[in-house]
Amino acid sequence: MDPATLIPVVEPLPVHWAWFDILLIVTFTAHLLFMNALFGSAFIGLARSLRGKHEVMKQVGMKLPPLLALTINMGVAPLLFLQVNYGHFDYVSSVLMGGWWFAVVAVLLYSYYGFYYFKFKYDAMNPGLRTLLYASSLLGLLYVGFMFTNNMTLMLRPEAWTQYFESSDGFLNWGDPTLYPRFLHFIVGAIALGGLFIALLGQVRDNTEFIDLGMRWFTHATLTNLAVGVWFLMTLPSDIILAFMGKNLPATLTLVASLAAMVPLLMAGFKKQPRQAAVWASLTVFLMVCSRHWLRTLSIQPYFDFSSMPVTNQYGSFYLFLGFLVAGLIAVAYMVKLYLKARGRGV
Ligand code: HEM
Repeated sequence: MDPATLIPVVEPLPVHWAWFDILLIVTFTAHLLFMNALFGSAFIGLARSLRGKHEVMKQVGMKLPPLLALTINMGVAPLLFLQVNYGHFDYVSSVLMGGWWFAVVAVLLYSYYGFYYFKFKYDAMNPGLRTLLYASSLLGLLYVGFMFTNNMTLMLRPEAWTQYFESSDGFLNWGDPTLYPRFLHFIVGAIALGGLFIALLGQVRDNTEFIDLGMRWFTHATLTNLAVGVWFLMTLPSDIILAFMGKNLPATLTLVASLAAMVPLLMAGFKKQPRQAAVWASLTVFLMVCSRHWLRTLSIQPYFDFSSMPVTNQYGSFYLFLGFLVAGLIAVAYMVKLYLKARGRGV
């Protein structure tokens, strides 16, 4: 069977597809930054707590419910843009995963309530039970992230979709050698930025212990991730490796730029400068997201030619969207300003 016949027919787009790609990349970067602060800081809190030091888990635990809410909110926008441009791949992989994918909602709800309970009943709870609740909520996040990696990799492999005809159960993308290093790359990256989040908390609160601890996790995890990144690159199909090694110049330059941004990032990390590190880390994550986008583009190229995407050129609704986006961002900035002023940190 030709797997290409399993790809649904595309719906026409109102405006050029590149607009949706730009919005997808920008909003996904925001999603990742919040997800990293959430998962990474929660992970470090647990690791410390298991060694008998509970302060980080307690302090970070107070931030987890709003961070989880922001991660989910920032995930909705890229999900919509992803479906606009890549729905004919992503809807299929979501359906093929079946119950594994559906369970994401239930697991997220569990983690959300778990972290809420931890925050508001911290003093009332038995310490052992409290840590168990926190750890199981963190495990829930790990599940959600793993399901996303499964979905985002399965959508790129129509040749693996034919497994559907072998059984009626939902399935995961176990046969894909990129699945494991890719997921590990996300997790180690999240731990690095989680460390940075703890260091930033330390800087706001004049807590040098948090700064030292956070920056140590940040630099060590980033160095580890260099090795994981090389492993990830090596598991990609050879034509894609070659594309990143010079055959496709824009893809190569994007990867080189993301690696170059890690130099000032690590320098700021070793000098224990959380704010500078945060700026370089945001840029690095953005460039890595662009490299990941190249990976998607190159992977689906044999199956779908974007120049054949039907476009109706109805720009009215798009301008309306941009207007509301700008007005919304101004309103959010104003609210943040009021919030900081109310907390005595006026800007
Ligand atoms: C809070 C727990 C979550 C975690 C830990 C998490 C983690 C991740 C990870 C690791 C990826 C990258 C997967 C890969 O490319 O291999 C990802 C992608 C993505 N996530 Fe999340 N996620 C979470 C929640 C959500 C939610 C609730 C939404 C939507 C409402 C969402 C929307 C997305 C989208 C759309 C992508 C793919 C974007 C793209 O391919 O360009 N995430 N997430």
